[in-house]
Amino acid sequence: MKTMRILTAAAVVGALLSAPVMAGNVDPAADLKAVRDYFAKKFPETPFNDYINGVYSIDPASRAQWEAIEEFPPYEPNIDKGDELFHTAFANGKSLADCFPGYENGVRQNYPFFDKATKQVITLELAINQCREANGEKPLGYKKGAIADISAYLAFKSRGKKFDVKVEGADALAWYKRGRDHFLAKRGQLNLACADCHVYNAGNYVRADLLSPALGHVTHFPVYRSKWGELGTLHRRYGGCNKQVRAKPFKAQSEEYRALEFFHTYLSNGLEVNGPGARK
Ligand code: HEC
Repeated sequence: MKTMRILTAAAVVGALLSAPVMAGNVDPAADLKAVRDYFAKKFPETPFNDYINGVYSIDPASRAQWEAIEEFPPYEPNIDKGDELFHTAFANGKSLADCFPGYENGVRQNYPFFDKATKQVITLELAINQCREANGEKPLGYKKGAIADISAYLAFKSRGKKFDVKVEGADALAWYKRGRDHFLAKRGQLNLACADCHVYNAGNYVRADLLSPALGHVTHFPVYRSKWGELGTLHRRYGGCNKQVRAKPFKAQSEEYRALEFFHTYLSNGLEVNGPGARK
């Protein structure tokens, strides 16, 4: 029943972001304005800066319980582990700390970014593994475990810093468009796009879950989910949401998900890093 309602709503609304665009005609600044205006109108009680709190920014009923959890955060041991891993020497004597100058003052907000030299979108997790490999170490798995701990440590150091993703030049714009296309494309047996659930139906229920707004989605990752019983990365969550509509997930750190993260984080420009976070 609930799913039916989602399909209908998505079919009827359809205006925001959904106008088909030609490759050259994507306008990130216009998208950003449209998304901010849309949510400001949809949730007039929610101040812009509060979207970093995900579904709790629009759901006062569950917020108190969540705030109690955040007082004794389940991800605290992960931050400590990440701290240790970040400073543990590689076989060559260097460490991750050597690859991330300025980490003490926060670097999380600088990711993802478009690297002009390689024409790639570089996410924080990719940069962590690039550093390891450049120093002769094996890359870490991308969804959980050590990489999530290190990411949590770096996010924690960056709390309060604001995202400001830049989309400059045709190549960066092509990555942005790819992420935007993923976000808007209907997929899976349920034939639903990210935007159907997290834009048009944000604030509605799908089964027992209230759907969060896409604005602010990325700010608190990695996330300790009670359902996982552990910490997971943003791309792990992407995979879960692809599976939820019975679509085949892409690989964590695939170009597809890095493009999605690029677009998705751009939408949160101006919002603060508040990771790691705790979620149901
Ligand atoms: C069928 C509806 C549905 C679709 C489609 C869907 N999601 Fe989700 N998503 C959920 C539900 C339910 C949750 C958990 C409650 C919440 O935070 O919205 C969730 C949670 C999330 C979260 C975590 C939010 C947080 O605060 O930690 C992210 C990020 C996310 N989705 C991204 C996506 C992306 C990107 C896509 C498209 C690839 C997508 N979702 C597609 C239902 C959906």
